[in-house]
Amino acid sequence: MPTLMRVVRVREPGDPDVLEVALRPLPEPGPGEVRIRVAAMGVNRADALQRRGVYPAPPGVAPDVPGLEVSGEIDAVGPSRGPGPAVGDRVMALLAGGGYAEHVVVHAREVVPVPAGWSMIEAAAAMEAYLTAFDALFERGGARPGERVLVTAVGSGVGLAVVQLARAAGIVTHGTSRTADKLVRAAAVGLHHGVLAGAALPEVDLAIDLVGGRGVEDLLRALAPRGRLVLVGLLAGATATLPLGLLLARRLRVEGTVLRSRPLEEKIALIQAFAARGLPLLGAARPVLDTVFPATEAAAAHRRMEADTSFGRIVLAW
Ligand SMILES: NC(=O)c1ccc[n+]([C@@H]2O[C@H](COP(=O)([O-])OP(=O)(O)OC[C@H]3O[C@@H](n4cnc5c(N)ncnc54)[C@H](OP(=O)(O)O)[C@@H]3O)[C@@H](O)[C@H]2O)c1
Repeated sequence: MPTLMRVVRVREPGDPDVLEVALRPLPEPGPGEVRIRVAAMGVNRADALQRRGVYPAPPGVAPDVPGLEVSGEIDAVGPSRGPGPAVGDRVMALLAGGGYAEHVVVHAREVVPVPAGWSMIEAAAAMEAYLTAFDALFERGGARPGERVLVTAVGSGVGLAVVQLARAAGIVTHGTSRTADKLVRAAAVGLHHGVLAGAALPEVDLAIDLVGGRGVEDLLRALAPRGRLVLVGLLAGATATLPLGLLLARRLRVEGTVLRSRPLEEKIALIQAFAARGLPLLGAARPVLDTVFPATEAAAAHRRMEADTSFGRIVLAW
């Protein structure tokens, strides 16, 4: 077994070109942990923010190696474990960082078996988008069959995951995009109603907002009595005006959410809930893939994501 592995690290805060391959010691799993030989890695907005130096990794995580999710095969297990994943298992995992690496060490209860028939590329694109969507729809948003949900930036990785899960649960889906073509493509993934950004919004019971900024006020105005808004992303900005009278009169609820900084036990609970209830709901649906880049071309992957032209998930593969 080699004692070194390749990672993709951030040389210094900046543009995509600061991403470069470097060598690091092979990590060893501790008690309750497993090591994954990584096949592929999902690329997320958070990785680009970390690259630019505005979203530091939490304590205990490599500060200069982005990456929140991987797929691969378990190649080592830590000492004194109970029953759990074993060497050779094909798994996908959510991480707090450090995922752009040939090997990662994670808690054994943070991994989920790759569903039968899924490729490693699809598995690498699953955890961040589906966990975020599952949590926003059901755990935070309390969506029920027959309700109406609206998701902003519907052509994004998270947006399409919301569409797939909501539709499977019998929820009517509305989605916005600034790009008309993405609405057409989202319909093929299962979106019931596309809305070009800026057009009038339909009344809905739940809004899942990936965009933030000034559009939040319009989303609140679109909510039915006892409606909920779950704020997931801030692509358009971090401040908004809240129509407080409307919040009172319609008894609205607004909740923000973030996965990365949650305590390990909360993440494990969400992962287990998704494995038990979210994956079966998906049925034959798979992560929607945009592009696969070699890991050595991570800079090109980041450029594509930040150009806002992608539809679905961007993945890196070793
Ligand atoms: N809270 C959490 O735990 C969590 C977890 C995962 C992701 N997120 C957040 O969720 C958001 C979506 O992530 P993702 O990886 O799914 O995104 P993505 O696949 O990269 O897609 C983002 C899309 O959003 C649209 N967009 C970009 N800037 C915009 C703006 N200023 N105004 C309106 N639309 C804009 C673009 O599509 P069009 O312009 O063509 O519509 C873009 O392609 C990000 O903000 C991400 O940070 C949060």
